[in-house]
Amino acid sequence: MPSQQVWNTKDGATYTTSNGAPVAEPYAAQRVGFNGPLLLQDFHHIDLLAHFDRERIPERVVHAKGAGAHGYFEVTHDITDLTSAALFKKVGTKARSTVRFSTVGGESGSADTARDPRGFAIKIRTEEGNWDWVFNNTPVFFLRDPAKFPHFIHTQKRDPQTHLKDPDMFWDYLSQNPESVHQVLILFSDRGTPDGYHNMHGYSGHTFKFVNAEGKYHYVQIHLRKDGGFKTLDNATAGKLAGENPEYGIQTLVEAIESKNFPSWTVYVQTMTPEQAEKFRYNILDLTKIWPHKEFPLRPIGKFVLDEIPQNYFAEVEQAAFAPSHLVPGVEPSTDPVLQSRLFSYPDTHRHRLGVNYQQLPVNAPVVPVSNFQRDGPAAYNNQGPRPNYQSSISPLTYKKKAYEDAKHEKFIGNASYELSFITELDFEQPRALWQKVFDDTQKAHFVSNIAGHIGGVKSKEILARQLSVFAAVDQDLSDRIAKAVGHPTVAPLKVAPASEAIAFRTNTQ
Ligand code: HEM
Repeated sequence: MPSQQVWNTKDGATYTTSNGAPVAEPYAAQRVGFNGPLLLQDFHHIDLLAHFDRERIPERVVHAKGAGAHGYFEVTHDITDLTSAALFKKVGTKARSTVRFSTVGGESGSADTARDPRGFAIKIRTEEGNWDWVFNNTPVFFLRDPAKFPHFIHTQKRDPQTHLKDPDMFWDYLSQNPESVHQVLILFSDRGTPDGYHNMHGYSGHTFKFVNAEGKYHYVQIHLRKDGGFKTLDNATAGKLAGENPEYGIQTLVEAIESKNFPSWTVYVQTMTPEQAEKFRYNILDLTKIWPHKEFPLRPIGKFVLDEIPQNYFAEVEQAAFAPSHLVPGVEPSTDPVLQSRLFSYPDTHRHRLGVNYQQLPVNAPVVPVSNFQRDGPAAYNNQGPRPNYQSSISPLTYKKKAYEDAKHEKFIGNASYELSFITELDFEQPRALWQKVFDDTQKAHFVSNIAGHIGGVKSKEILARQLSVFAAVDQDLSDRIAKAVGHPTVAPLKVAPASEAIAFRTNTQ
């Protein structure tokens, strides 16, 4: 972490109380006589216990298990035609960054090799403030209606009564929300068990907007592609490692950096104009869909390298607070409703997990000065000194009027309405292409045995049949192979509305 003091484990320091007073006997406690009660006046002892009692902060409600490191983002290509972000003003600019990789469903002590998507969160410290990339290692997600998120996550947490994880809850949800099947295909391929946190790609998943100096914008998706490729584990090895070395992911990341095999990624954007977005077959605000590379090629923008392990895991990784709403000028969120919900959810959970001044913690504090009218609250470390606490001494940016007007590109007129997406044949096209055109025979065989191992644990015949009908809607052979592996008769495809209904709905509401 920048500007962090480097401590030696044996640095000759004198042991002190928390107020800095030297202590001769760290293990001793004051008591009355030889066998008497302890004394309230022994601040050292009471403070030791009181601080210990408060050591734990809430673990992240999702993505609780993770590994972190520091490194840099380097601009390798000029993209000033796309964005005015100061980071990209000059090719060669390097910005110190912090990454946190994670699994999603398990608790803080769970195994690194669990079958799960992986979180890939990066804090890039730019001269215009911190820009967080809160990405996953898969280009798509399980849902596109944000209200489903807490329900879906609960199905991977413990049963309220038995405190056990329950495959019926998981498949009950997935089989009734088949827009998840694209992500399910990725999750139960060997990509669901990456070989270490640092051997995988990262994807924004959501559409963002890059706005250039003239106020013109493009829709973008950001991709980080691991140099050397995405390495995976097979199911048996991942399971074995989960038992033998639950910290496999943290360990291999630390070892790679310590041996100076610095993990690196090439960073790309896919771009789309608003006109292209209107004509595109899929809704760019639906993160269960990808943008085909053939139509929207990857354009290189930078390089991301990890070259430093944290001095202190808690301070620099556990306390790291990433949020998709931590953006910089020249980058805007799209109106993807899942992204919009996340803009709220992360800062909200940080205020709960770390406190209202979480942005002042050293790992989160921007490298540029913060000047605003937020004051006080617990642990106000940078309380902005004598500066007035109302608008007076700080000048807002003077916008070029035209650029600002142009940037107000999207107009939203209408009444508030409730929206919930519906399933059509459109939702099966991309998973079908993944199964039929991307997976080779080995990948298909692994997928079938990986999924059979999990779905075979489902007790409800209804849930199993329903999920097999979802797979049959993707591809009958895919469903039949899983059915055979779990000893279930063939199931007919789930009946859904034609793709034209989704396209017509989108066109009419645009
Ligand atoms: C409505 C949808 C979602 C909600 C409400 C949500 C909410 C959350 C919350 C509350 C956390 C814990 C953060 C913390 O305690 O620091 C979290 C972590 C995370 N989420 Fe999401 N999430 C959603 C979808 C997604 C998606 C689509 C992605 C990726 C494209 C994603 C990536 C991550 C990552 C990488 C972390 C871990 C960040 C870290 O390492 O500190 N989430 N999410």
